[in-house]
Amino acid sequence: MDSFLSWVGGKKRLRKEILSYFPQRIDRYIEVFGGAGWILFAKDRCAQLEVFNDINSELINLYRCVKYHPEAVQKELEYTLSSREQFDDYKSRENILGYTDIQRAARYFILIRNSYGSGGTVFGMKNRRQNEAIEYLTNISKRLNKVVIENKDFENLIKSYDRKGALFYLDPPYYKAEKYYSYRFQPEDHIRLRDSVRTIKGKFLLSYNDCPYIRKLYEEFQIIPVRRQNNLSLGIGSYEELIIMNFQSE
Ligand SMILES: C[S@@+](CC[C@H](N)C(=O)[O-])C[C@H]1O[C@@H](n2cnc3c(N)ncnc32)[C@H](O)[C@@H]1O
Repeated sequence: MDSFLSWVGGKKRLRKEILSYFPQRIDRYIEVFGGAGWILFAKDRCAQLEVFNDINSELINLYRCVKYHPEAVQKELEYTLSSREQFDDYKSRENILGYTDIQRAARYFILIRNSYGSGGTVFGMKNRRQNEAIEYLTNISKRLNKVVIENKDFENLIKSYDRKGALFYLDPPYYKAEKYYSYRFQPEDHIRLRDSVRTIKGKFLLSYNDCPYIRKLYEEFQIIPVRRQNNLSLGIGSYEELIIMNFQSE
C-alpha cells in the first residue's frame, strides 16, 4: 500500500528496488529513520516484530494517533480545507499550549500535506484530494496495528533492538541534505551511524546519496549503486543513490 504522506527524501520511487534486497526470513524488522514509511507501507507484515521510529516527535505523535485513534483524527480533520488561510493559521500555532495529541496530529497532517515539497513551512498550491486522504487513514491504522512506534535517536534504538535475525532498514538524511529536516542531522552523525551499525548482530540495509564521502565511509560493506526510476537525465554510468548492506543478497 502507499504511505499517507509525502516526505522529504521519501522512498516512494525506490521502494521496489529496496525491497528486492530484503532477506527472505526476518525475525524482527526495524525502520530506523521512518519519515513517511514508504518501505514499511510497501510491504505486508514481514516479521513477528515490526518497529517504526523517527526522532521527529510531531510526526510520531501523528503516527500514534492514527494507529490508536483513527476516527478521532478523521473527525478533527473533517472540516479542514486545503487552503492557504488554514495552512497559515496552523503554521502560526507552532508552539501553542493546550492542544490535545489529536489536535496536534491533525495540525501536523495538514501542514505536511499542504506544504511546498512537504517541508511543512510554505503553502504549496496543489489539487489535493483531502477527503480521500483523510479516509485513507483507516487503512494506515490497520497496517500499524501491530507495529511498535518509537521516538528515539537512531543510536539507542539500534542498540535496543539488535539481535541475530533482525533487519534494520536505515534511510538517514542524505549527506549535505541534512538542512531539509526539522531535526538537524549533524555531519558527525553520519560517522556515528556508521559506527552504530558496524558490528551489529543483525542485518542492515542502508540507503544514501551517491557521493565519494559515503562510499569511503562504508567501504568495508557491499555497496550497490542504483538509479531512481524514470530518471533518464543522468548520463550512462552515473547514479543517484546507494544501497549499502552488511549481508549478501539472496
Ligand atoms: C530520508 S527521511 C526518511 C524517509 C523515509 N524512508 C520515507 O520513505 O518516507 C529521514 C528521516 O530521519 C529522521 N531523523 C533525523 N535524524 C534522526 C535521528 N538522529 N534518529 C532518528 N531519526 C532521525 C528525520 O526526521 C526524517 O524523517
